[in-house]
Amino acid sequence: MDDKELESWFEANKVLLETAYLAGTHPWQQSGVGLRTPRSVDYWETLRRPIADCITSSSIFLDVGCANGYLLECILRWTHERGLLIDPYGLDFSEKLVALAQARLPQYADHIFLGNAWEWSPPRKFDFVNTLLDYVPDELQEAFVHRLLERYVQPGGRLLVAEYRGGHTGVPEKRIDEKIGQWDLPIEMVRSSHFEQEPMCQTHIAVIRRTT
Ligand SMILES: C[S@@+](CC[C@H](N)C(=O)[O-])C[C@H]1O[C@@H](n2cnc3c(N)ncnc32)[C@H](O)[C@@H]1O
Repeated sequence: MDDKELESWFEANKVLLETAYLAGTHPWQQSGVGLRTPRSVDYWETLRRPIADCITSSSIFLDVGCANGYLLECILRWTHERGLLIDPYGLDFSEKLVALAQARLPQYADHIFLGNAWEWSPPRKFDFVNTLLDYVPDELQEAFVHRLLERYVQPGGRLLVAEYRGGHTGVPEKRIDEKIGQWDLPIEMVRSSHFEQEPMCQTHIAVIRRTT
């Protein structure tokens, strides 16, 4: 893919996602859940809480692809239940979703950045960074993980690479940890959950520690 094709790929993805998310009314819909099949808040919590469970200390957290900021809001609440204090940050490449996230979390409006994760330079590094791989085309995913580790994650910090399976996305051949394992990156742990009523709807998170 040349630079022009890559630019078109990002633009098409942005328009597709923001159009679908902004048509939603529930906060989880505006974060990409339950757009085709109506979903409850329990579904959202079952499949997103494991991200919060990967956060083991009071820390600075960045959600790459933060959409309307609902995950940030939930992460704050779920970690607070364990006595942790999180300083939340978000990044999204959709102007409209960034505006929505800033409106949802006005006290953190200046922590929510507009930018494309593939090329954005963060103003600081973070203790925990959460991402999905599908923010870049398949052939750039390995380089994307390395980039996030080098540019976004504090030495000693962790990159959480999440994968949401099932629903309309289908089941890819390899699970996220198998995929990342092929790239010779050390996975510290994997956290998983599934929705009881539909066991094929799953979340898996591969946690990679930045050692140097
Ligand atoms: C599925 S939502 C994720 C919401 C939340 N982080 C979660 O995991 O539930 C994906 C979000 O990522 C954003 N996104 C996709 N590709 C991106 C990129 N290259 N850079 C920044 N944001 C991106 C989309 O605009 C969308 O809001």
